[in-house]
Amino acid sequence: MKKQSVLVLSGPNLNMLGRREPEIYGEDTLESIHGEIRALANKLELDVTCSQHNSEGELIDWFEKAADEFGGVLINAGAYSHYSYALRDAIVAAGVPCIEIHMSNVYGREGFRQKSVIAPVCHGCITGFGKQSYLLALRAIAHIVKDK
Ligand code: DQA
Repeated sequence: MKKQSVLVLSGPNLNMLGRREPEIYGEDTLESIHGEIRALANKLELDVTCSQHNSEGELIDWFEKAADEFGGVLINAGAYSHYSYALRDAIVAAGVPCIEIHMSNVYGREGFRQKSVIAPVCHGCITGFGKQSYLLALRAIAHIVKDK
């Protein structure tokens, strides 16, 4: 079976996982979560690329690449989810199915986290399952990229 390519992007402050508010985000580092994503991708026969960026511009650059190189994108855009219209435009421009991820349950937190400006242009959103949010989203995107 031909492998399909999925891009997994993480936004600002997610490089601090493990040290950042572990009571909310858990104790795993992003590197170890990336390891689990790669292991699951292998089982699901997906090619996966994982990348983290603190800056909005670099995330947008990846969406430009995604248009040509990836069948689907998973993004935990961190706080950009709540206000970055530039990221939202980049998702639309890429024209690639995208799933929004949050590790915490954003609907149970501060009011500003309860709005996502990228949600309307994503295929769906997985929020509140810690590192499993990434793994559940990978299973979901597998169905989408394989159906194409
Ligand atoms: C987050 C939730 C955001 O509100 C926050 O700014 C993050 C992480 C999450 O994974 O739960 O950086 O996206």
